[in-house]
Amino acid sequence: MRKNIVAGNWKMNNDLPQTEALISDLLKQEQTSNAEVMIAPTSVNLFQAFETTRLSNIEVIAQNMHFAENGAYTGEVSASMLKSVGVNTVILGHSERRAYFNETDEMLAKKVDTALANNMRVIFCFGEELEDRKSGNEEEIVENQIKKALFHLDASVFNSIVLAYEPVWAIGTGETASPEQAQDMHAFIRKTLESKYGNTVADAMTILYGGSVKPTNAKEIFSKPDVDGGLIGGASLKAEDFFAIVNAF
Ligand code: PGA
Repeated sequence: MRKNIVAGNWKMNNDLPQTEALISDLLKQEQTSNAEVMIAPTSVNLFQAFETTRLSNIEVIAQNMHFAENGAYTGEVSASMLKSVGVNTVILGHSERRAYFNETDEMLAKKVDTALANNMRVIFCFGEELEDRKSGNEEEIVENQIKKALFHLDASVFNSIVLAYEPVWAIGTGETASPEQAQDMHAFIRKTLESKYGNTVADAMTILYGGSVKPTNAKEIFSKPDVDGGLIGGASLKAEDFFAIVNAF
């Protein structure tokens, strides 16, 4: 049985009081599904978030980290810094990091290595742009993103990796991939993994969908056999909406 995960990516939202308020609302919600629940606040609030969720099922995760272990990288955050404040999972390769901070597949391969070397779990994001989908290249783009960042890895580390398919045209736009589009791509992703690592790795891989998931569409998207959860942006900023999605399984 694959793990179901619903992770909230708060992006650059919520200062400390807002973080505390949202977490306090989240802690009041009732979970009726067995999905793993994660939230990714901004790095400056990770410690506080970790402390305040300590006794709950909510895992606090990071939105990003640097590939170097330490050193002269002004403004950056390392794996050991994250671990020292209780964070054991990191989102890597989000399309906003790729688009606005020039993160390349090569850089992401290094980040993945560093996270794994520090015994962290990685939620690795990828997805095509609108033009790619219009021209029918979405599978080729996605396959390349996965191959370049992950295919140097040994099969044994894949239990520390979660994949997140996030078509760029669906992120923050209100436009969601149809459940069928998500299912088709997730099945393709699983096949891509299978071709290199075999059935066992591919079958066990949790593949999340991200891009305008809302309480109103989560159930249908999550009902697809190859969709194992969601990476949620906008709708993760409201406790009721986020838990409506968590409970959509
Ligand atoms: P969205 O963001 O749910 O606001 O579309 C998803 C994401 O960027 O992970």
